[in-house]
Amino acid sequence: MNRIVYVNGEYLPEENAKISVFDRGFLFADGVYEVAAILQGQLIDNEQHMNRLRRSLKELNMPSPADDATIEAIQKELIRINHVDEGVVYLQVTRGAADRDFAFPENSAPSLVLFTQAKDIINLPAARTGITIVTTEDIRWGRRDIKTVALLAASMAKMFAIRSGADDAWLVDRNGYITEGCSSNAYIVTQDGTIITRQLSNEILHGITRNAVLQLADKEGLRFVEQPFTVEDACQAQEAFVTAAGIFVLPVITINNKVLGNGTPGPISTRLRSIYIDMALKQV
Ligand code: PDD
Repeated sequence: MNRIVYVNGEYLPEENAKISVFDRGFLFADGVYEVAAILQGQLIDNEQHMNRLRRSLKELNMPSPADDATIEAIQKELIRINHVDEGVVYLQVTRGAADRDFAFPENSAPSLVLFTQAKDIINLPAARTGITIVTTEDIRWGRRDIKTVALLAASMAKMFAIRSGADDAWLVDRNGYITEGCSSNAYIVTQDGTIITRQLSNEILHGITRNAVLQLADKEGLRFVEQPFTVEDACQAQEAFVTAAGIFVLPVITINNKVLGNGTPGPISTRLRSIYIDMALKQV
């Protein structure tokens, strides 16, 4: 692959891009990231992603490597030189390189890395078939609202799903309530057509797609509530879906092998995916 990536001021072929072994992102997962969707070569909801990046940096008292306009210019340049029509752009900021010490360094220069990943989002095959979900314990730390690169617990949950023969995992807190998916926000639709998704707190990532989808649901006159729901509620649901930047809205067809509705993507999930895509295409 001859992809060009961005590392600390340079555009380089990916095999030549290097980060210090002392980078705190590598040693302490002391870094934050964002993933924004690209449709027709244009960024979707990027201002919201930048706002969340600023919030993540502030919560961790991490210096910023560049202002929003500079970062956006890099995102656009990578999309252009890599000819990405549809996919995502990943960006990561770490506290930079410093001799290993648990205390934050006084004057480290933050690292900035960006790369693109081309992939189908609108014609994602899983959007037609729906995905299967298994639930597993949420063993992540207590600040899931900060989008840090400490993703091992999420990665282990994903592997649990794959080994269980499912597509993805939903995470369950110690009270038996679902927090979110391992890389998405989670929703169920009750038998009477009410959408339920967990309320915003430090327990979940404040998804940019979640925010947009709830606004669209409101405009459509769909009923939704933001409150905890249990694994049992999920298994009794009429339909379910997940949202994230690289997938938009994806219908869920089974949870822990319990078939939801008639086992195909439900009407509300399908409708929300369609109006979300319409909204996103208006930005390009
Ligand atoms: N993940 N919850 C978690 C734990 C996530 O990792 C993500 C996104 C979301 C959805 O957020 P948004 O709608 O802003 O993408 C919710 C990204 C896509 C990733 O890690 O690849």
